[in-house]
Amino acid sequence: MSAYKIIDHEYDVVVLGAGGSGLRAAVGLSEAGLKTACVSKVFPTRSHTSAAQGGISAALGNMGEDDWRWHMYDTVKGADWLGDQDSIEYLCKEAPAAVLELEKYGVPFSRTEDGKIYQRPFGGMTKNYGNETVQRTCAAADRTGHAILHTLYGQALKHNTEFFIEYFALDLIMKDGACKGLIAWNLNDGTIHRFRSHITIIATGGYGKVYYSATSAHTCTGDGNAMVLRAGLPLQDMEFVQFHPTGIYGHGTLISEGVRGEGGYLVNSKGERFMERYAPNAKDLASRDVVSRSIAVEINEGRGIGKEQDHVHLHIDHLDPKVIEERLPGISEASKLFANVDVTKEPIPVVPTVHYNMGGIPTNYKAEVLTVNGSEKTVPGLMAIGEAACVSVHGANRLGSNSLIDLVVFGRAAAKRAAELVKPGMKHDEIDKSETDRCLDRFDKLRNSKGSNPTSELRLSMQKTMQSKCAVFRTEKTLKEGVNEIRKPFEGMDSLSVKDKSLIFNTDLVETLEFDNLIRQAITTMDSAYHRKESRGAHAREDFPKRDDENYMQHTLSWCNGSKTKINYRPVHRSTLTNDVQYFPPQERVY
Ligand code: FUM
Repeated sequence: MSAYKIIDHEYDVVVLGAGGSGLRAAVGLSEAGLKTACVSKVFPTRSHTSAAQGGISAALGNMGEDDWRWHMYDTVKGADWLGDQDSIEYLCKEAPAAVLELEKYGVPFSRTEDGKIYQRPFGGMTKNYGNETVQRTCAAADRTGHAILHTLYGQALKHNTEFFIEYFALDLIMKDGACKGLIAWNLNDGTIHRFRSHITIIATGGYGKVYYSATSAHTCTGDGNAMVLRAGLPLQDMEFVQFHPTGIYGHGTLISEGVRGEGGYLVNSKGERFMERYAPNAKDLASRDVVSRSIAVEINEGRGIGKEQDHVHLHIDHLDPKVIEERLPGISEASKLFANVDVTKEPIPVVPTVHYNMGGIPTNYKAEVLTVNGSEKTVPGLMAIGEAACVSVHGANRLGSNSLIDLVVFGRAAAKRAAELVKPGMKHDEIDKSETDRCLDRFDKLRNSKGSNPTSELRLSMQKTMQSKCAVFRTEKTLKEGVNEIRKPFEGMDSLSVKDKSLIFNTDLVETLEFDNLIRQAITTMDSAYHRKESRGAHAREDFPKRDDENYMQHTLSWCNGSKTKINYRPVHRSTLTNDVQYFPPQERVY
């Protein structure tokens, strides 16, 4: 029984997370007259969306002919046929309106000479179901996420969304299989808050920090995903982890795919443009999984660069410095800061780095969370959007610039659906005291841990295991070792050491709560990867090099109770939403 004093709040809808998807949902909910709270562990404009660089995809056709159906085909192919085509249709059809809405809100997009939104080429984005590259990625220089995030925060404030900033969410409040809100800890004054809501929308982003080297911010710990696991619900397709081909070597900082979109290219130690061998048509603009694997092969076969031959070079020194200054100022600064490279004169040392989680909380295209055992039934009161969700538009591999569009399209969809389900001021159900106690008992137990294992050591052990056993290439042997090893840091929590017992800005406790969230996702990722005995998109099994549609064109569902997981599968949606487009049947995937 908990001794914490609880401060109660009632909202029509609570959004957890203030990145691009959370803010877009909050704007729509507030506009619809719903009393909306947005709870975030970081200040909204510090959310990880601010790190998105290259752009947001939408078939606007500003730089030549384009069609949302071509965008859909590219996304289905990029996803290696694991995406749900009804969701992909929705994403691509809604994308142009969602981007024009951002423009209206005030996003400072780069412009063409005639004043339209500037669009650059990105990997896997093509014309007419073919191989010819199309310019579909709308850009605000190479700081597109930053521009969108700031604009949406302004809009949310304008529409009177109420913000609870630097509140760390502990758990969902569940009652008879429905979500009734959440419990959060205010880091600033140490108080505990219970948010009662008719709908809770999880928008907590990805969990890149299960790996040692990632482009993700330290805050990317997938807190909402772990809350869903603790509520007894499954996560989906966790084995699909995207490695971005160009993280700065030794540092992991993102160098945007927009660099290759503007004409940048990769070379190995022999000075060869090796992508010509792996993807004769798309070359450096093949999909990310293909480029990352090609770099890994170059390194593994001894053609890497440097003393350790463990990275490759990305050149933009041939580009006009004016183009670099106008369109790529952010990566120029990052390269100078983190690699001491002047990009107008020298190549950038890069290596594939964990960047994105295709897996997450299973939802339908209306952002409603799907329930247990592979059924399409929804969990009342619970939605998920953005990287936390697996809707699943990215399937086994996400195309660059399809993340920002996913955030705004499904943030908008969630707000629309919530406005259909909830009427402003509806009465709230009573919450069982035992449910509040369950959430706070876990918090209290972690806070009062008096063992000998510091969180930082357990986290490092988890990250090293994920990095070495669940990497770009995987085998039965590495994954089997990984399945065993990844449980050790979890077991280490039996003797956890949390030195600081205070409740105000206790970073020791924050990191411990984050680790408890991360380790559950690490376990489900490793176990899901072990059970998928095929290669598809970002999941490359050396021992099963081919895609196996007969047995594995299915979504993996994984439950995690402590260190025990359960794996099941759910069919991929093989039909479209409307007759505006036909289902794209599986094909061999070549670039
Ligand atoms: O490369 C980039 O600019 C990243 C974009 C994305 O992940 O969509």
